[in-house]
Amino acid sequence: MARDKKLIIGNWKMNLNMHEASLYVHQLAKLVKNHRDVEVVLAPTALTLQSLSLQINYRQFKLAAQNFYWRDMGAYTGEISAAQLNGIVQYGLVGHSERRHVFNESDKDIRAKVQAAIRNNLRPVLCIGETAFERSEGETAAVLHDQLIGGLANVTSEELKEVVIAYEPVWAIGSGKNALPDDVSQAVRAIRSQIKHLYGAKSAEEIQVLYGGSVTADSAKAYLDLPDVDGLLVGGASLDAHAFSEIVKKAHKGSSLANK
Ligand code: 13P
Repeated sequence: MARDKKLIIGNWKMNLNMHEASLYVHQLAKLVKNHRDVEVVLAPTALTLQSLSLQINYRQFKLAAQNFYWRDMGAYTGEISAAQLNGIVQYGLVGHSERRHVFNESDKDIRAKVQAAIRNNLRPVLCIGETAFERSEGETAAVLHDQLIGGLANVTSEELKEVVIAYEPVWAIGSGKNALPDDVSQAVRAIRSQIKHLYGAKSAEEIQVLYGGSVTADSAKAYLDLPDVDGLLVGGASLDAHAFSEIVKKAHKGSSLANK
């Protein structure tokens, strides 16, 4: 997907049951118009993915898995594979901070999941970000560097075209303390510079990089206006169809196409 299109992903985390999810999508479909310059993606709980896949119009919304296992099939009780998600979702979150910190996912797990997503035609959204402690120690760029190398090992430059990076500082997630746009800009520049180092200038220019962490309808525009930022990964504010639709509208108005 080219960078002239903003990508807005709503990560519902472990919220909304089947009935609530269906009602939400019904409401959102009425609130959000199709825009050529915005791609809207919903990441509901795995339980609701299949029923929502039948309910949504894929030209209006796409679906993302919040998580999946990296093997394609086998004796892995309780897991869902990217192969099984193929045809239902178009994206898969990988390495979200809650997966890293609550479920102890390692870079090894994360890069296997990136590979599994690519192998099964899902676009991996590789989430990276520093903790408050790492930021206070001046380690932000080093952490981003390590997490990028950890997640992207084995990804070719051709495969990188399918990868989305989400910069989500851990301290900004669910805390109400969203990062300052200048700090986001700096971090995203560090990410692009690392991609340039690994894959060259063209890949660094083309890769989509999102910001996530306590984004609201009020703060969204400040990030969408940053030239290096290609969209948002929204948690809490995506749980309300109306608030999320306001964020989507900002992406449309704030896009380079809309301003022409
Ligand atoms: P919040 O928007 O609730 O801070 O969550 C961000 C996030 O983790 C999205 O993946």
